[in-house]
Amino acid sequence: MSVTISVPQQQLLERILTLEIVRVTERAAVSAARLRGHGREKAADQAAVDAMRRELNKLPIVGTVVIGEGERDEAPMLFIGEKVGQGGLAVDIALDPLEGTTLTAKAMANALAVMAMAEPGTMLNAPDTYMDKIAIGPGYAEGLIDIDAEPGDNINALARAKGVKPSEITCCVMDRPRHETLVAKLRKAGAAVKLITDGDVAGIIETTDPSTGVDLYIGSGGAPEGVLAAAALRCIGGQMQGRLVFRNDDERARAAKWGVTDLNRKYGLLELVSGDVVFSATGVTDGSMLRGVHREGGFYTTESVVMRSATGTVRWIKARHRIKDA
Ligand code: FBP
Repeated sequence: MSVTISVPQQQLLERILTLEIVRVTERAAVSAARLRGHGREKAADQAAVDAMRRELNKLPIVGTVVIGEGERDEAPMLFIGEKVGQGGLAVDIALDPLEGTTLTAKAMANALAVMAMAEPGTMLNAPDTYMDKIAIGPGYAEGLIDIDAEPGDNINALARAKGVKPSEITCCVMDRPRHETLVAKLRKAGAAVKLITDGDVAGIIETTDPSTGVDLYIGSGGAPEGVLAAAALRCIGGQMQGRLVFRNDDERARAAKWGVTDLNRKYGLLELVSGDVVFSATGVTDGSMLRGVHREGGFYTTESVVMRSATGTVRWIKARHRIKDA
């Protein structure tokens, strides 16, 4: 049952939820981590889904999954449109219980459990297609980079803004054959390219943290992951643009079903996620941003980052969970 509440109460609930949602990603991460390195992508994903759903159903929300595991017929749980929560504040939820299923199956860096919660109707209902993405961290003039500009022009603009040579710019790109030309153009412009095998939510968030050495994210990856990364950037700062990429008519039809009318639209950050949003990620495997789940004595330790766009507060939360409870 959804409850109508006054604005101060709503803000209070949002504040409380900022700390509550970290439990959701923590549990998903701990469950998936048990299957690290076992080569079982589906099992690891299922473990994360089950745990995330259990925790979501404990929250004081009427949550609607708008970005989830897929459509109802292909995803028995956390499907798009599924309602979660105990009743209370109405929110839309974008989630990826295990961002980096292959990374987890192979015990490679940067697998995360991720979710975002926003005011209803304020996150792009991205279909499960690809999205062209470009992102940089905070502190630059709006419009410095553009998804439609030549890669070399974006590199030069960013280098000028940073006061460095193009050779000192590092771009994160997914290591895929579809990016061969892009990578060649970036290198021709003088930039360094950091190739990642999976996990572009982490790749995009890396641009906001100078210690990662990544200045720009560029290339295509999952559209749902694009919205999740945008939710993080709305909180932490930075610029991002995205455009849906369709490979066939079926994907175009799916997009239309979710209300996308202009298939060629260039989405800015505020069009990907327009309302107040809270974002949480917990490391499954050790990564550039978060340590993964570790077993220490009778405990599991987790590291999470939880952020809120309304205040821009970013919290790094280390937790210890008794193994018998996890
Ligand atoms: P999964 O965890 O669902 O496997 O997604 C991992 C991922 O690497 C995403 O981070 C990225 O957006 C997408 O897959 C890229 O898709 P593809 O592997 O088809 O290039």
